[in-house]
Amino acid sequence: MTQRQHGKTRQMSRNSGQLIMSPAGVGLIIQRQLLHPPLFAALSSLQGKYIARVRMVVVRGFDIRTMTLQTSADSRSAKMAQLQAHRKSELCLWLPELATQLRLLASWRAITQEGAGHSNQDFITWHKLWQGYSGKSRNLFTGPHPGRPVAMRRHALPNAAATENTDINDPPANFAVLVGRIESIDALYLAQEGHQRYRHRRIADRWETLKINA
Ligand SMILES: Cc1cc2nc3c(=O)[nH]c(=O)nc-3n(C[C@H](O)[C@H](O)[C@H](O)COP(=O)(O)O)c2cc1C
Repeated sequence: MTQRQHGKTRQMSRNSGQLIMSPAGVGLIIQRQLLHPPLFAALSSLQGKYIARVRMVVVRGFDIRTMTLQTSADSRSAKMAQLQAHRKSELCLWLPELATQLRLLASWRAITQEGAGHSNQDFITWHKLWQGYSGKSRNLFTGPHPGRPVAMRRHALPNAAATENTDINDPPANFAVLVGRIESIDALYLAQEGHQRYRHRRIADRWETLKINA
């Protein structure tokens, strides 16, 4: 890294210290990150009552007005059922150039082919996300049932729902969009002069901010 790039990174990271002080600032960070995709995050869920699971996902969209996130998944995958059973789960982002960790506790709902038919807005969201997919990403949805051992030969084969659609521009039946309404934010900035941490909690239509350390 050149001296100039070093200076720029330091400046960005200092701005992050300011931005994490408010939910709107955190929203701005996420919005800016999405200008340079892919944005990776770790998504948690609960398997049964006691087992916590976590996996990487790509954050595909964000609405700063409603503080709502979008990611996508195969509707047959385990996380879908887990998030349906326990809707609140955390999405964790590590942004190295900002020296910042964002833990976003969100309430999740899924837009699936069935659901997409019910609301106009959901149908548009479902379609729009699919349109933004590369051919490689689209292929992932025509593969075998995710999580089925290959040993279960017949059951691990691509299912009809995934392969029957003739127009590649139409999302397959197993394509799902996960929409997460952020309920609270735990933002941590690893500053050289000491870590800064803020917690923002959504209460009805306003946000409450708590300074943990700064
Ligand atoms: C870098 C990376 C990005 C990923 N992005 C997604 C994603 O956006 N959506 C998704 O469903 N799985 C994604 N995966 C795969 C998941 O991490 C996970 O292995 C898979 O979805 C099965 O999870 P589940 O059985 O808990 O549902 C990604 C994996 C990696 C390594």
